[in-house]
Amino acid sequence: MLLDQLGRPLRDLRISVTDRCNLRCTYCMPADIFGPDYAFLPRTELLSFEEIERLARTFVGLGVQKLRITGGEPTLRRDLPELISRLAQIEGVQDIALTTNGLLLPRLAPALRAAGLNRVTVSIDSLDPEVFGRMNGLGTHPQKVLDGIEAALSAGLGVKINTVVQRGVNDDGLRNLWLALRDKAVLRLIEFMDVGNHNGWNLDSVVPSREVLARLSADGTGAEFTPVSPNYRGEVAARHVGADGHEIGLISSVSAPFCGDCSRARISAVGVLYTCLFAGAGTDLRAPLRAGADDEAMHELIAGVWRARRDRYSEERGEVTREQKVEMSHIGG
Ligand code: GTP
Ligand code: 5AD
Ligand code: SF4
Ligand code: SF4
Repeated sequence: MLLDQLGRPLRDLRISVTDRCNLRCTYCMPADIFGPDYAFLPRTELLSFEEIERLARTFVGLGVQKLRITGGEPTLRRDLPELISRLAQIEGVQDIALTTNGLLLPRLAPALRAAGLNRVTVSIDSLDPEVFGRMNGLGTHPQKVLDGIEAALSAGLGVKINTVVQRGVNDDGLRNLWLALRDKAVLRLIEFMDVGNHNGWNLDSVVPSREVLARLSADGTGAEFTPVSPNYRGEVAARHVGADGHEIGLISSVSAPFCGDCSRARISAVGVLYTCLFAGAGTDLRAPLRAGADDEAMHELIAGVWRARRDRYSEERGEVTREQKVEMSHIGG
């Protein structure tokens, strides 16, 4: 079995299909940096569906079982259901998921489901229109995301919700969010992370998951939540069940890093392979693909990168500083 330098297998592949987004979340693509003059990637730079499919087949041959499509906002990529349908036909793929802001799901959910998508993870940070509008950078109303969640559920897709928690920004509204959404989907609360180079991260704005749990509960102690075991080895979210039986997940990349089991590889929209969310550099897969490398050469190239992998950034945070990190909008979280 293919293992990296820390004994970790390759199980998940996250594929970004665009660097564009129809929101400007302050912690991901702040509007003052990603403004009207920002140079997004031209279409010819993006991997084609044929190229993505070929890479996915190679990764599945190396142990990948789960595929996740990300962005930017992946639903902005034209003909996305066609890509899903190609990926769903690869033998050995057990699960295909999509990370999205949900805005285009009312239009796209049925076609994505029909193409073979299993699940969506929808991001929403607050139900308060003012707070959400400020966080998404464009004043977009939370009802638009709720409509997307409903569309996904109606289409028969599995749904999880991602909420990034920032101190003094949306931490007051967490219980409201949980009460409104717990009947519909599993809510996951994410500690604000120092991804990319522009989101003004500092430790003071991180609300540790322990405190998030307390804020979610009626009595303010968090005691009503019981930890439950992971669904699979390397699951990022630490699952908990509330007194009423509803599940939440805590993603504690800052307070309790989970690099030890990290089995994830990421490919940017231009075909660069990154072995960590916080990587400074990656390996270009597009150049050899376009130069005509055969399947065996691609297999060897990717296997070599994984074998050499030593990444554990979240565990080293505070000890190492990294000058330049890959942008979130290039590898989709
Ligand atoms: P499931 O397959 O549903 O378990 O999805 P997931 O939790 O693996 O994926 P998702 O994209 O929903 O991840 C949730 C959040 O956790 C995202 O915001 C990511 O930024 C963060 N995250 C995912 N993988 C990693 C990782 O390897 N390292 C760190 N530090 N954060 C991660
Ligand atoms: N910290 C934590 N989570 C983030 N996301 C984007 N930027 C950050 C950050 N700085 C989340 C989004 C989305 C997923 C792709 O990553 O909210 O749910
Ligand atoms: Fe867009 Fe998602 Fe980034 Fe927000 S977090 S700017 S919705 S890619
Ligand atoms: Fe994996 Fe890097 Fe995240 Fe650690 S910081 S869990 S190695 S992606």
